[in-house]
Amino acid sequence: MHTITLIPGDGIGPSIAEAAVSVLEAAGAKVKWEQVDAGMTAMEKYNDPLPPQVIESIRNTRIALKGPLTTPVGSGFRSVNVALRKEFDLFVNLRPIRSFEGVPARFGEIDLVVVRENTEGLYIGRERYLDETKSAAEMVGLITASGSERVVRFAYEYARNHGRKKVTIVHKANILKLTSGLFLEVARSVGKQFPGIQTEDKIIDNMAMQLVLDPRQFDVVVTTNLFGDILSDLASGLVGGLGLAPGANIGKDAAIFEAVHGSAPDIAGKNIANPCALILAAVMLLRHLGENSAAERIEHAVASVIRKGERVTRDINPRNPVGTAEMAEAVIEELGQCSSC
Ligand code: NAI
Ligand code: MG
Repeated sequence: MHTITLIPGDGIGPSIAEAAVSVLEAAGAKVKWEQVDAGMTAMEKYNDPLPPQVIESIRNTRIALKGPLTTPVGSGFRSVNVALRKEFDLFVNLRPIRSFEGVPARFGEIDLVVVRENTEGLYIGRERYLDETKSAAEMVGLITASGSERVVRFAYEYARNHGRKKVTIVHKANILKLTSGLFLEVARSVGKQFPGIQTEDKIIDNMAMQLVLDPRQFDVVVTTNLFGDILSDLASGLVGGLGLAPGANIGKDAAIFEAVHGSAPDIAGKNIANPCALILAAVMLLRHLGENSAAERIEHAVASVIRKGERVTRDINPRNPVGTAEMAEAVIEELGQCSSC
């Protein structure tokens, strides 16, 4: 039995977390949950968005399933998501983007992976006003050779271990010559150590255009924090939206699995959020634990429910949708029926 820290999150978080937990239980995954609150929920309860028991729990279990956490825009507390990534040095944000049969999307089969650096770049939180009237502000972006090396190496090793052919390094080294330039230089030299894998590099603006024009040309994409954040939402839009995009924050000593999307305040409390992104994040978690058969069964069941298209949420079938809980039930029933799973 594996003990997993469960952070339900806020907004749509609790409902999709409940869905994911019930699917894992139905699949017979050997997990037990240690539930803790972070973000807005913890703020309300303890006046602290990241209480010590959250850190302690993850330090013990070394693995967490996390619902989305709202970060106030402009003012208020800093991102708990970013704080957790920093605290546990979760330097990789792995975001597989693949198309599902039955989901209307502009392209045919898409199967790519965004590997986003998760602890450096412009997300280190070093910002300040330049004067007392707050008429100007500046920020610092940090790129280190060692930070770049480890995430790019992860991308190449992932490519090699998963039979992938190409790594695209995404940067802005034409303008940001020292920071993005260092990332590119290090990435190219890591790439040379993997002669079996094709390496290319692209400037971020061109990359955004190429992804929209023909995403099938990409396989593994590795990039810095901000670019990876934006590109992974963009890529999820190519396969039907954020409701289907899972992610994993991975470090040497811990891993936190979550959806790519946020707390979706616009649809929270309405039972219309798609639970699949978090269910698929839980599938990644099971694989991380070596629970491959439960992972496979859930993945098949999700794909099958989506393919049938009858008991899916509004984002996939706007004309005749079911709710979050009902879609999770459909996945659970599919688990029971699927003999090949
Ligand atoms: P968002 O990802 O929450 O929502 C963007 C759009 O996608 C919205 O229209 C939403 O309704 C839709 N959407 C998201 N998840 C969905 C799902 N499962 N099913 C159907 N539709 C879905 O991004 P937004 O609105 O920019 O951010 C809201 C809050 O979430 C912010 O406070 C932000 O900081 C936080 N956030 C947290 C993340 C995390 O916990 N890792 C990641 C991204 C944002
Ligand atoms: Mg994001």
